Amino acid sequence: MVVRMRHLLAFLALSLLSPLLFAGDLSGIWVSSVSQPDGHTDREVLVLQQRGNQLTGKIERPWGSLNIHQASVDGDRFTLIAKTDDGYTITCDGALEGDKLRLAVREPNAKPYELVAVRSKTDPFLVSNVVAPPAVHDLPPNGPARTPPMGWNSWNLFAGRIDDSGMRDAGYIYLNIDDTWQGDRDGNGVIHSNNKFPDMKALADYVHSKGLKFGLYSSPGPYTCAGYEGSYGHEAQDARTYAAWGVDYLKYDWCSAGRLYPDAAMRAVYQKMAEALRATNRPIVYSLCQYGRDNVWEWGPKAGGNLWRTTGDINDTYKRMMEIADTQSAIAKYAGPGHWNDPDMLEIGNGGMITDEYRTHMNLWAIFAAPLLAGNDVRGMTEDTRSILLNKEVIAVDQDTKGVQGHRADKAGDIEYYARPLDNGDMALVVVNRADTSTSLKIPWSEMHIAEGTKVRDLWKHDDFPAREDQSFTIPAHGSLMLRMKAPQ
Ligand code: GLA
Repeated sequence: MVVRMRHLLAFLALSLLSPLLFAGDLSGIWVSSVSQPDGHTDREVLVLQQRGNQLTGKIERPWGSLNIHQASVDGDRFTLIAKTDDGYTITCDGALEGDKLRLAVREPNAKPYELVAVRSKTDPFLVSNVVAPPAVHDLPPNGPARTPPMGWNSWNLFAGRIDDSGMRDAGYIYLNIDDTWQGDRDGNGVIHSNNKFPDMKALADYVHSKGLKFGLYSSPGPYTCAGYEGSYGHEAQDARTYAAWGVDYLKYDWCSAGRLYPDAAMRAVYQKMAEALRATNRPIVYSLCQYGRDNVWEWGPKAGGNLWRTTGDINDTYKRMMEIADTQSAIAKYAGPGHWNDPDMLEIGNGGMITDEYRTHMNLWAIFAAPLLAGNDVRGMTEDTRSILLNKEVIAVDQDTKGVQGHRADKAGDIEYYARPLDNGDMALVVVNRADTSTSLKIPWSEMHIAEGTKVRDLWKHDDFPAREDQSFTIPAHGSLMLRMKAPQ
């Protein structure tokens, strides 16, 4: 009995004490702000609720939220695991030090890093009174991008490390600055570039003086994916600023708009910027980037898009490149002059694939009539990279004016055949060897209704030969052929 009593007292004491010990110490909105050399402030927000040693809440990034799935609190210290709906996971060890929260963060594909967060009364990522998107209607074609846009984009290699010091003629027309060029808005709400881009108008003039066109990037949300200023609530104003700078191309990336709108509102939200761009009377290629959600290919052109991303991000691996390629054939019919499926930018020359794989990347993107936006360091291209990106005969297939996207026509084990009809009646054919070893094969011309003796051009060897059923081709592991069959005369 005595023992029981003692337990009870101890329990009561603990129950009374625990609100003091745990006292919601961690509950609240915590914001870490890290100033970047370009003048931008990287923010990370934790919204925490503590009850005893239970910790719930979320981590907020500019592009979305990660809900806390698991957490443990031990005095002033805690560990939590937070995940997005699609499984992206962050682990965070934290400690309360006075009025600050010190955090050690681990996440995929990044070095572990530390942050210090302080309490905030408001959540800087929260938007109240979200502006309703416009009523949806079909926009007529806007004119540009009769063939898939070609150019260079800063993101795949440089990500945020892009400035105007590396401008070189990459041989492709559009020179597109991706995320992280944005600075602050002034008192009138006008967007300014940050200190990496001291004068956007001058940069655009320079790009134009080299015979190139100039592209920029923004988001329909308040923040871009990297947390920079988006166009939410400033669409018409930003469109006018871009036009005044001389922008010819806008990539518009969903990112934080996902906090404000459901996927079903995407079409209307994209239409809003399309109309703002058109109101400037400057022809601006409009690139939708919402990772292929909500069957964008069905409504992309009606929302004013000249191209739309069909998938999540590419990365510099053969596996990811082929995963993306595998989803393109089924949606081929949606592409055409002025409006293209965009399987994301090229990784050619970035070092993660072997030359044969990069050739396959180029061949497939050309057969798919994909926009060709190089994403490599054009200042130091190897001969291999140059020969792939600047293969005029492959580019000619990509840019073919008939504008019919090719598709996978046949598959036999590891060998795949992709075909694309061309404007002059020729047919382009890509034969991919997905096996991890080199292989020899004979092309079944008759099955493809190609008569024996038809003139065939090898777009890599740059020579012609007659189609013959008994001819053998050797294709290296993960490599491919690209051939062009002459139309019957
Ligand atoms: C998203 C896009 C990428 C790139 C980054 C920039 O991930 O899909 O292509 O623009 O944002 O933050």
